[in-house]
Amino acid sequence: MANSSKVLVINGSYRDDGITDQAVEVSVAALNENGAETEIINLRDYPIEFCLNCRECTLQPGNSPGRCVLDDDMHALIEKIEAAQAFILASPTNFGSATAIYKRFMERLIAYAYWPWEQSYPKFRKADAAQKKAMLISSSAAPSWFGRWLFRTSKQLAMTAKTIGAEPVGTLFTGLANTEKHKRLPPKTVERARVLAAKLIST
Ligand SMILES: Cc1cc2nc3c(=O)[nH]c(=O)nc-3n(C[C@H](O)[C@H](O)[C@H](O)COP(=O)(O)O)c2cc1C
Repeated sequence: MANSSKVLVINGSYRDDGITDQAVEVSVAALNENGAETEIINLRDYPIEFCLNCRECTLQPGNSPGRCVLDDDMHALIEKIEAAQAFILASPTNFGSATAIYKRFMERLIAYAYWPWEQSYPKFRKADAAQKKAMLISSSAAPSWFGRWLFRTSKQLAMTAKTIGAEPVGTLFTGLANTEKHKRLPPKTVERARVLAAKLIST
């Protein structure tokens, strides 16, 4: 991938400068050093509504995402997703899953499914032709081996990647994220963030 890659970062953490923000920050710094263009969307500051399950967007055929009936910033976010060549998808683990704001975003990605009423399951418009790349970032209070194995967060981030037409290049998972109030990202995690960021924009 050329150095002029556009990387869109979608962050589902609730906290400024928590473990997720720090992981995003070091990854973005590595991407910028390598000439990539980056944009960070912190979902905590980004006004999108819940999916209505009206299925209007899913009834529109074609490879492009269907248009949602809601008039909010998800339209702009889908345009950004379509324009990006790579993604960082990030969410801490809350109650064994991605955060509620991340799930709200993820559910709105149903626009990436073609799903007529007579069909019992959706066909994801981009899933068979994943041409983009995604780096996944998650964390938990539990140790990382346990968190990755037990919780759904990593799988939800991977499902998001597939939905928007991206193949995961790897997961940066920080365990024991709660041992101090202002926990800093461990040096080994910083190192791995830089490796994954390079992978994200390599050809
Ligand atoms: C409401 C809530 C639920 C949580 N549930 C879990 C959980 O099920 N398992 C776990 O290991 N950690 C859990 N945690 C800890 C978070 O995963 C941890 O604080 C987070 O990874 C830190 O991310 P941040 O620094 O970006 O906020 C929970 C935290 C909160 C606030």
